[in-house]
Amino acid sequence: MTLADRLMPALRCLDPETAHSLALMALTLGLAPPVADAERPILKTRVWGLDFANPVGLAAGFDKDARVPRAVLGLGFGFTEVGSVTPRPQPGNGKPRLFRLSEDRAVINRMGFNNGGHDAMAARLRKFRAGPGGQGIAGVNLGRNKDSSDEVGDYVLGVERLGALASYLVVNVSSPNTPGLRTLQDRGPLTALLTAVKTARDGLANRPPLLVKIAPDLASADLEDIAAVAADVGIDGIIATNTTISRPASLRDSQKGQIGGLSGAPLKDMAKGVIADLYQLVGRDIPLIGVGGIATGADAYARIRAGASLVQIYSALVFEGPYLAARIASELADLLDRDGFKSVAAAVGADHR
Ligand code: FNR
Repeated sequence: MTLADRLMPALRCLDPETAHSLALMALTLGLAPPVADAERPILKTRVWGLDFANPVGLAAGFDKDARVPRAVLGLGFGFTEVGSVTPRPQPGNGKPRLFRLSEDRAVINRMGFNNGGHDAMAARLRKFRAGPGGQGIAGVNLGRNKDSSDEVGDYVLGVERLGALASYLVVNVSSPNTPGLRTLQDRGPLTALLTAVKTARDGLANRPPLLVKIAPDLASADLEDIAAVAADVGIDGIIATNTTISRPASLRDSQKGQIGGLSGAPLKDMAKGVIADLYQLVGRDIPLIGVGGIATGADAYARIRAGASLVQIYSALVFEGPYLAARIASELADLLDRDGFKSVAAAVGADHR
């Protein structure tokens, strides 16, 4: 048992935001040593021309300011996603704003894009890229300032300032804690936004893949619109899903009434349903990243079979600790083997065949 594992019960006794800060500090200080054996040949997968050692990534929101990409990749994650980052630094909402729903294996957050802004992130990513392991896959998730008067401009600035340092870029239009943000998912505004962002991306020498991240709370007509816009504009990928503003009737924890986005186990079926629906709309033309409630290798495998080329996790880490990604990856490799798949790619969308 590592020091990090021994610290987990103590972290769970602290208020969740303090626990999160300590976890970041522990990673910065190297207190969670790298895992040696997260790589199994069957898990290697190539998406958008990027070579992933395994398909299990860290979702946006854990490392909002790109403080620990190297340490995260060392824990056995196949990739990490930093952000959401906004042009100017902003404090986010007042505390408390992060709640653990232990009885439901869930989290509610209303952080509100607290982050240090583009320039601070760019400086950290430059260091990461120049150091050991700096070729690792780190996507950059872009948001907009709460008080922005030019929301499209905020995302375009993100592409211009951070695109050269990003393995891929994400246009986040689905966080529930920035008023008005989610209306950018509507067909007209989404077309205008993604067209402008793609033009900016096309101007970069490295032309990183451009993804859009969507909410789980969309009707099927909205999903059809998003799939159509993504195809028309020529977006490279879709991440589904962000947190939900819904509150499933099954929730039991006393914190369930907190305002914010719900993630973790109660989001699992909803997020998987969105991946399955999207896969039916876009097939293999637009690779999908599945996120929401994944906590085991079986969950990751089910999401891949539903149509995800890659998966991400966040909330389950709060309950299971830093080595969860390596465990999920290893369980996933066993499940692929068991069912006779030779690769992750071969299993993508298997439920639809
Ligand atoms: C998030 N998530 C998130 N997503 C995003 O695109 N930008 C962000 O800044 C954040 N911030 C954030 C903070 C906290 C505390 C949580 C719990 C989540 C959403 C996250 O990336 C993911 O989409 C959802 O949490 C669903 O996955 P899990 O947590 O169920 O594995």
